[in-house]
Amino acid sequence: MDDKRLLEKAKEILLKNRRKGYTLPSAHIYPFQWKWDSGFIALGYSHFNVDLAMQEMRMLFSAQWANGFVPHIIFHASTEAKSYFPDAKFYGASLSEDANPNFETTTITQPPIEGWVLERIYNAGHDLPEVVKFVKELFPKILAQHEYLYKFRDPHNEGLVYIQHNWESGTDNSPVWDEIWKSFDAPSYDFNRKDTKHVQESQRPHQREYDYYLYLIDLFKELKYCDQDIADKSPFLVQDPLFNSMLIASNNSLARLAEFAGYPEDIIRLKHWNNKSIRALNDKLFDEEAGVYRHYDLRRKKWLDGLTSSGFAPLFAGAPSPEMLKKMLATLERFSKNGQFYLCPSFDPEDSNFESQRYWRGPVWLNMNWLIYEGLKVYGLKDWAKRMKEDSLQLVRDQGFYEYFEPDKENSKMLEKAYGGEDFSWTASLIIDLLNDNL
Ligand code: GLC
Repeated sequence: MDDKRLLEKAKEILLKNRRKGYTLPSAHIYPFQWKWDSGFIALGYSHFNVDLAMQEMRMLFSAQWANGFVPHIIFHASTEAKSYFPDAKFYGASLSEDANPNFETTTITQPPIEGWVLERIYNAGHDLPEVVKFVKELFPKILAQHEYLYKFRDPHNEGLVYIQHNWESGTDNSPVWDEIWKSFDAPSYDFNRKDTKHVQESQRPHQREYDYYLYLIDLFKELKYCDQDIADKSPFLVQDPLFNSMLIASNNSLARLAEFAGYPEDIIRLKHWNNKSIRALNDKLFDEEAGVYRHYDLRRKKWLDGLTSSGFAPLFAGAPSPEMLKKMLATLERFSKNGQFYLCPSFDPEDSNFESQRYWRGPVWLNMNWLIYEGLKVYGLKDWAKRMKEDSLQLVRDQGFYEYFEPDKENSKMLEKAYGGEDFSWTASLIIDLLNDNL
């Protein structure tokens, strides 16, 4: 498929997955609106229909809670949505006094990319009055999300926020969580899995892992979704380099937009947050020896085992110093097995827990590639960025707009299609963004 056709196909996918005011990540397997997916999706729309980009973001923030929290799924009614589990009833959001009474949502969040996306929408349409109005409207909502995170998710006031659940990381079944699951027992839940009806079992999390995922939500319910109690009692409390890097990058975008959006007084606060967050990210999460950032387990006070593609996300935040950057590039090269693998596997390919097909335990994900690509550009590393872009385009050209991809170049030649959900919205969106970037 040539680039022109690739671009057309990507737009078709987005429009096909679009419902009333929001877009499904992939029609069969993910039948609602997901938070960080909507950020990536809005970015794609901003290249050809800024109105759709604004609608996507507006819908997401209309489900925001009173305390600034933004939930990771909005359970819009749709024909595809029947019998999805865990559903709104299981989450029981109304147990929290902050929940939004107008929408059925989950009670956990996802990485805060929206500030960064807002800046891109602004860049795409700053000469249009409706875009100007939109930026002024969204700015305080996104800021309120950041305030929520710093206020309720940073118990030691370090400048690093924690995630409460593996689904909050966006990297659901990463091997880094395995040791947390080993640290407590979870009952087994009896429910009918729908994901494996659409995607091969070998490409999805194991059934037993869902017990831990669900048990955490049950525990939060017991604690009535009080963040303080969760911080005191939950076995899962992690400072994730990806989540924190997106927060920093979004702070930066808001600081650049503040004057224009009519909130110049917020610049000082945004800069203060970022100075502190970048320092903490570098001091606490960077592993000199491994040459990459790590996940920190606040409960057990140690790094979690294993290296992930999330560990490269601080490039996107412009956090690493030149010395750190040099080490990270060597690690990135190692992740590519000196070119035998496409960049960037989601998990260290030399680790015994690496699995090339199983979701976040090894496959390449386009959103992580895009993030690292943007990060490499921050440092002016054109050749590296080109390589990241070319690997991403090649995978989609050869194997279609899937959710995730086989990293091993030899093995991937034998595949007719990639892995996970098909016609995947953020894959389409980010291909649109990459193709529009003349690097
Ligand atoms: C999976 C991914 C998550 C994404 C969701 C919808 O759960 O791990 O990051 O947001 O699917 O695409």
